[in-house]
Amino acid sequence: MTTPVLTGTHLAKAFGATTALVDASVAVAPGEIVAIMGPSGSGKSTLLHLLAGLLRPDAGTVEIAGVRIDTMSERQRSDVRLRQLGFVFQHGELVPELTVVENVELPLRLTGVSARPARVRALEALDRLGVAGEADRRLSEVSGGQAQRAAVARALVHAPPVVLADEPTGALDTLTGELVLEAFVDAARDQGTAVVLVTHDLRVASYASRDVLVRDGRIVDQAAHVGEPR
Ligand SMILES: Nc1ncnc2c1ncn2[C@@H]1O[C@H](COP(=O)(O)OP(=O)(O)OP(=O)(O)O)[C@@H](O)[C@H]1O
Ligand SMILES: [Mg+2]
Repeated sequence: MTTPVLTGTHLAKAFGATTALVDASVAVAPGEIVAIMGPSGSGKSTLLHLLAGLLRPDAGTVEIAGVRIDTMSERQRSDVRLRQLGFVFQHGELVPELTVVENVELPLRLTGVSARPARVRALEALDRLGVAGEADRRLSEVSGGQAQRAAVARALVHAPPVVLADEPTGALDTLTGELVLEAFVDAARDQGTAVVLVTHDLRVASYASRDVLVRDGRIVDQAAHVGEPR
């Protein structure tokens, strides 16, 4: 395997008396697509949030592009997230008061891209996901599936080396779900983006090169995907 761009080793996280994750290790190479699967409550979102530095582990380490983030301050971690990561939350998390396109261009504007090129890139990203027509509507006024596609556009717009997505097709029909998956596949193939997807959907997992199965807070299996290679 080429040098991983994202590595979690021996990660553990508890919320009070609830053990959410124990001894979880995963490494993802550039251009790889990994599907995290497992029952509800098994620790998938917790694993993703730890890998993104959104949560700090009780034990274990996280490295992104060769830099340890688990020991960083909150401020340093948010800077790494802005530059190196795209994250699609399980429950949205875009800014409802902003328009769709303003939400998508945010990571570009925050990293110093000026207004016009940021707008152009954001509109391109929305167009690829079939929601350019929604660009000027407030996020609070679009459908759940349109908001989900806007969230995917925002995660990909700045071409980060790592994209983490928590059930990114959960609110989508088959056709729009495929638009989202194609966007991740293209980013992996064309830009070497490392993609980690949490999903319950075997069809989504079939796009992955590798499955990580989580059960009761433990990674119980990591296997090369046996289905049709994409
Ligand atoms: N902020 C929190 N406070 C307390 N308990 C939490 C918190 N986040 C997660 N948990 C608990 O940790 C465990 C793992 O939760 P997690 O969200 O990682 O599961 P999941 O696999 O993503 O589930 P789902 O498929 O339903 O999204 C669950 O028992 C959950 O109740
Ligand atoms: Mg979850």
